[in-house]
Amino acid sequence: MTQQNELTIRRPDDWHLHLRDGDLLTAVLPFTANVFRRAIIMPNLKPPVVKVADAVAYRTRILKALAGDTGFEPLMTAYLTDATDADELSRGHAEGAFTAAKLYPAGATTNSDNGVTDIGKIYGVLERMEEIGMPLLVHGEVTDPDVDIFDREQVFIDNVLIPTLQRFDRLKVVFEHITTAEGVAFVEGSGANIGATITPHHLVINRNALFVGGMRPHMFCLPVAKRERHRLALRAAATSDDTSFFLGTDSAPHLVSEKESDCGCAGIFNAPSALEVYAQVFDEEGALDRLEAFASLNGPAFYGMPPNEGKVTLKRGERPADDRLTVGSEEILPFDTGKSVLWRVVY
Ligand code: NCD
Ligand code: ZN
Repeated sequence: MTQQNELTIRRPDDWHLHLRDGDLLTAVLPFTANVFRRAIIMPNLKPPVVKVADAVAYRTRILKALAGDTGFEPLMTAYLTDATDADELSRGHAEGAFTAAKLYPAGATTNSDNGVTDIGKIYGVLERMEEIGMPLLVHGEVTDPDVDIFDREQVFIDNVLIPTLQRFDRLKVVFEHITTAEGVAFVEGSGANIGATITPHHLVINRNALFVGGMRPHMFCLPVAKRERHRLALRAAATSDDTSFFLGTDSAPHLVSEKESDCGCAGIFNAPSALEVYAQVFDEEGALDRLEAFASLNGPAFYGMPPNEGKVTLKRGERPADDRLTVGSEEILPFDTGKSVLWRVVY
């Protein structure tokens, strides 16, 4: 078989992205906007994006930070709290200010303190979202400190997701950044109203990466990487023909000083190499012909949007490691898989 050296796909979208704000936003945005046409923008700012006006203002700041005419379109999300008002949410959805709403169990991850303390508190909101067809994006981990951190996704499926979906069986849910074989099996066994995003890093690293010769804060994200068998299940799911799985980088930049600290922040900044790393994974799995579905078709189909018209071309060729990004007097370290990435986006 001759080796494929070039691949052109429809322009992809990133269905899970943290862009932050201010100088950080300006620094990280080009990496996404140069490759992806749309992105679902996570609302976990400080303070979070809760109201329609917050999303409209944040969207304006993103558009202002865009350099050049990339055609990039930010799709905004609402941060659900115990106090979220169903009317405000549905108004935002109707006006196009909120594409979806994000459920952070309170305390589950970065800037989730204002999240939902008990899913029962938002039943009214979920009922409305089901009615209007507004997707619920879930950070699927329980926060009970007695549950082992490596089991929190599985316990969330059993204790929160399944009961919630029994109550709201038409609710559209994206199970974000799945990290376990149980997550994969749950999505595979669910109806068309359940989708899932898979990050590049969870396809490449397992939990050993956190402890290679010492503690590796730049490999720390939430949900934390799991055992090898889970990584293999994620790779099989992403490269399968199951349209429930789609691209969501969860690119989550933090300053080096905040990562390399006594209490280092969770989050991996993978935007500079995201599409290339996905291409590498699909290549290794002999599934380059399925990259377009995962990156550019399954997500829009789930969200009920047309796929993009533009194209992106990738060429085989060793990709150099990314430089650190400078933000003021601080730096951000891009994700480094530690292995060769043999695909490059052609600009
Ligand atoms: C994200 C962040 O930094 O905002 N961190 C992460 O580890 N993924 C939050 C999140 O998506 O959990
Ligand atoms: Zn995230």
